[in-house]
Amino acid sequence: MPSPATHARPAAAPARSGAAPSRHLLGLQGMPASELRRRLTAAWKLQQLAERDPHGLLDVARGRIVANIFFEDSTRTRTSFAIAARRIGAEVVELVGSASSVSKGETLIDTARNVAAMGVDAIVTRTKQAGGAASIAAALDAFGHNCAVVNGGDGRHEHPTQGLLDALALAEAHGRTAGFDLSGLTVAIVGDAVSSRVARSNIAALTTLGARVLCVGPAHMAPQSMESMAPAGAVRVMQDMEEAVGLADGIMMLRIQFERHGDGSASGPAPGAEAPKKNAPIASVREYRAGYALTAERARGMKPGAVVMHPGPINRNIELDAEVADGPRSIVMRQVTLGVAVRMATLAESSGGGVEAMP
Ligand code: CP
Repeated sequence: MPSPATHARPAAAPARSGAAPSRHLLGLQGMPASELRRRLTAAWKLQQLAERDPHGLLDVARGRIVANIFFEDSTRTRTSFAIAARRIGAEVVELVGSASSVSKGETLIDTARNVAAMGVDAIVTRTKQAGGAASIAAALDAFGHNCAVVNGGDGRHEHPTQGLLDALALAEAHGRTAGFDLSGLTVAIVGDAVSSRVARSNIAALTTLGARVLCVGPAHMAPQSMESMAPAGAVRVMQDMEEAVGLADGIMMLRIQFERHGDGSASGPAPGAEAPKKNAPIASVREYRAGYALTAERARGMKPGAVVMHPGPINRNIELDAEVADGPRSIVMRQVTLGVAVRMATLAESSGGGVEAMP
């Protein structure tokens, strides 16, 4: 274990007593319902403030510095954290993995330690490796850096702020923002769940808040073992997409994550491509669509009030028809909007004074 080292704190971020692991947000698995509800309530409060004053800035993290350190591509998460940080008064520094000294052989932990040593209050990180954010957090704590770590996605493992924003969007769509009790709601998570950190964080959050989750897909993408990710009966694995569409109050479509299947592809096939790839998880896009896409025709079988969700990025007309993605049941853009509020609340807690202290 490394020997701890102390670091002077900037004036705007007074030293707290010792390491504060609770300021890290590494995952939602094992997070109690009370903690999920507290975080969702804080985000909802910030969202309502933002709607009253869209250009307003809050002061809860004035003088604090947030570093975005992303070792994997991102549009939504990285931008959303940057906007969220600015809205609560913090400064943001950006470090993209490919432009960092990791390309010269520096480890993720040394990279994070160096950034923390500059007086950063919170690091938001995305890593290809499962457990990347947790390793960084453990090292920062062990070396005495007073810097919170927020997981912006670690391999297939977790994407906690995505899980929170999805729960918030679903709760809003179904009028559950007073208390965030999702009992009686059924959410279908469709597609490549086994490769998906979004699915793992969502299963944890949604089932803890009382919802039932259906994992829908071919057996190699939605294996039976996923039922063991929550208390008995909370997750059901199934292959019948039509049945799932008829049961669900929210349908969360997932992209096929070709980049996690070991074929070296970062982006998957071009839309309409039919040729199977080396180690491809599906025989053809046409076959996959026939079984599991949310097509316009299938969407007509949705329950009244049911909503369509997608964490992004969408591969239009592969897992989700464009007219459904952009249609009246879609809350995909609302998910993105609410993501800023979730990240404001997260950063306020991790780097600032928290949301509860706000007037
Ligand atoms: N939902 C999500 O994580 O999107 P990005 O990869 O663009 O951040």
